[in-house]
Amino acid sequence: MANKPRLLTGDTPTGKLHLGHWVGSVENRVAMQDDYDCFFIIANMHAFTTRADQPSAIRQSVMDITLDYLSVGIDPDKSTIFVQSDIPAIAELTFFFSMLIPYPRLMRNPTIKDEIRDKGLGDNYSFGFLLYPIGQVADILAFRPDIVPVGDDQIPHLEMTREVARKFNQLYCGVDPHAEDKDALDLGGLLPVISTKAGRVNRLIGTGPPNQQGQLLKMSKSLNNAILLSDSADVIKKKVMGMYTDPNRLKPTDKGTVENNPLWIFHETFNSDKKWIEEAQDRYRNGAIGDVECKKKLIEVLVELIEPFSSKRRELENNLDYVQDVQRTGAERANAVANETLTLVKEKMQQLY
Ligand code: TRP
Repeated sequence: MANKPRLLTGDTPTGKLHLGHWVGSVENRVAMQDDYDCFFIIANMHAFTTRADQPSAIRQSVMDITLDYLSVGIDPDKSTIFVQSDIPAIAELTFFFSMLIPYPRLMRNPTIKDEIRDKGLGDNYSFGFLLYPIGQVADILAFRPDIVPVGDDQIPHLEMTREVARKFNQLYCGVDPHAEDKDALDLGGLLPVISTKAGRVNRLIGTGPPNQQGQLLKMSKSLNNAILLSDSADVIKKKVMGMYTDPNRLKPTDKGTVENNPLWIFHETFNSDKKWIEEAQDRYRNGAIGDVECKKKLIEVLVELIEPFSSKRRELENNLDYVQDVQRTGAERANAVANETLTLVKEKMQQLY
């Protein structure tokens, strides 16, 4: 593992993982396990920033996401799965790093602004909520990774991570402010100015209708429009059969619209049979194929993807000791790396006593 480049990414435990997570990041992770030394963080402290009153739901979700990771093929012999609060160095680094970002800069973070709006937080967000992007900077830099694959809603946090790394390297390691990011470590910097890797699909839409502005909404458990990586074949079938399609098409002989139609967005995202899609879309436009037939095909495709995950999951659910073992071993490995970073950070800051 030691000479592979290091990768870090993760999820906030606010539910189970769904198809949006899969195409946005998780499928990449499974594919990259052999070439990277992977660290996957389950950011339970971040879940507390908006749900401090729901500890048992957060606990449940930490278990669910660990199960999701293992079920979809993240292999704990190759990769490290760990829970954020098991790594004390992350909290310590958060404190030091919080001094390197001006407060107004934090308030300009678009992800923070969107979350305040979308979650209806008003001015009732906690101090910890504003701190969490710095917490995420610490999650990342604690591991000094080479790459951080995330969905595009996380890009502002990665930009802050780069800013903190640059500032740290300048203030405490004497790196020239005009140095190029890629040269930071060679010039004596401690913290890498990381790069990202986008997923195949950035914002998968959900199975529901558009909002009043006519925009299809992002897949999200809270909007009740998600297909979970742990759904059974029956549930997938129900969700796809109830899926929103072309509202103007009342019978299979009506001409249908392919554009901006969730049915076809899902086919294009998950069905590898491009020839089938092309032909079926032609027939759809001409009123020569029914929604039901297209939905059945989609069910087939999705069940083929998800069914192996759910059967692996059922196996693991009967062996929760093993799942906890994975978390403990993960914490040990993660602590070894994060503690080393913390020591180096303190050394550069002249605070090793
Ligand atoms: N904030 C991320 C999300 O909600 C989860 C996360 C926490 C993360 N720490 C991270 C992702 C570090 C990448 C790297 O999806």
